[in-house]
Amino acid sequence: MDWVAEFYSTTGGWWGRAEAEITERDHRRLRLLHEHAGERPLRVLELGSGYGTTAAVMARAGHAVTAVEVSDRVEFAGRFTRDVEPGALTVVRADFYEVDLPRDFDVVCYWNGFGVGCDADQRRLLTRIAGEWLRPGGTALIDVFNPFVWARWDGDEEHRLPDPAAGYDHELRERIRFDPVTCTAIDTWWPVADPERAISQVLRCYSPADLALLLTGTGLALAKIHVGEHAFAPAARPGPRDLLHDHHEYLAVCRSS
Ligand SMILES: C[S@@+](CC[C@H](N)C(=O)[O-])C[C@H]1O[C@@H](n2cnc3c(N)ncnc32)[C@H](O)[C@@H]1O
Repeated sequence: MDWVAEFYSTTGGWWGRAEAEITERDHRRLRLLHEHAGERPLRVLELGSGYGTTAAVMARAGHAVTAVEVSDRVEFAGRFTRDVEPGALTVVRADFYEVDLPRDFDVVCYWNGFGVGCDADQRRLLTRIAGEWLRPGGTALIDVFNPFVWARWDGDEEHRLPDPAAGYDHELRERIRFDPVTCTAIDTWWPVADPERAISQVLRCYSPADLALLLTGTGLALAKIHVGEHAFAPAARPGPRDLLHDHHEYLAVCRSS
């Protein structure tokens, strides 16, 4: 997992000026929080909070948010603290495998990031969420990378041209590979001017059934999966077919026991 801070710091340097903005994606996440955990003021821990946009939207909605982020992306978070009640948003620069936090959260969320490292690493994190941070009966909202869509992207390449007016200063290339043995997506980026500087993120993908197995013994159980705009019981038959084609991640709604 030693690539993590470098990958997200470097890419944040490449496109953070353009993408560190509150968008509809952050407001959708707030709606998901309310749908699956309720609208009363909640104590929320956000893991891997990136630029801090979703944390700020949750805090502005009245929740008490602690956000943990290991990379330089955390430096953008100050932009979004306007309109946040004093004390409603705490941003901590730390590795969530190491950080020490009190056990008093109603919700732990991890948007668009779960799957770094091996299965034992995910289980260590899930066990920390259930055993150290969530109150009993609390909710974990975890975006999970969908293997069916990432596998279809195997071999895809993109060429991003610079657009300084929009905040994109670099000419970049991207190549996606999918390893069907380890069920991991390998997403590699490099500056066209300096291909030696290629960096990759390696993302373990889980089907809902495999996620349910991974959760066994961690203190979390899969209550629902939320795909696109719909939530399903994990045992729903037939399952949501758009998982085959349309969504590169789905939200796992988990409850702590
Ligand atoms: C794909 S980005 C998503 C960021 C943000 N959640 C969003 O949706 O915009 C994943 C984030 O998780 C962070 N991250 C990964 N492993 C971490 C760790 N062990 N501790 C803290 N942050 C971590 C990365 O630095 C990165 O900013």
